[in-house]
Amino acid sequence: MMARIKGLALSRDARAPRSTEAVVEPFAWLAGAHKDQLALCDSLEAIADNLPDIDREICAYAARMLGPLLRELHAGEEGLVFAWIERWHSADASLAAMLEQLKYEHCEDECYAEELTEMLARLGAADASVNAETAGYMLRGFFTNVRRHIVFERECLRGLLSRHGSERPGTLPA
Ligand SMILES: [Fe+2]
Repeated sequence: MMARIKGLALSRDARAPRSTEAVVEPFAWLAGAHKDQLALCDSLEAIADNLPDIDREICAYAARMLGPLLRELHAGEEGLVFAWIERWHSADASLAAMLEQLKYEHCEDECYAEELTEMLARLGAADASVNAETAGYMLRGFFTNVRRHIVFERECLRGLLSRHGSERPGTLPA
């Protein structure tokens, strides 16, 4: 079962860095965090694609993992990557608005994840009142948002580096 729910566990490199840990290169860390989030999206898409068939064990596991996983990755993005950007590019006037927008989207996705968690827990508990069409709609809405956010975040940071690349080199995820 683990191979099918690989996206519902943090990769070793994408855990939010602790203050006592060595700070890795921020964009390399971000690449791992995005990879984990895309794997999570793939796992949720697989659940949606199989509906109305439901693997209760996977849904229950997804319900337990989704919120903590997303919050930890977002905390790492904001605490490591965004903080690094603010430190090195504080003179860029467009920076604050860009980071605020990205943080707002994190918040939106975490709120959405709470609703999805409840629905996944009901699927995991074989709650017959869950409408498969609604569940599919919610799942697809969530992973579409997360994928779009990642594309937007990469574009924002790529634009930032193209403006300031010579001041502080960095490498964005492919
Ligand atoms: Fe993000």
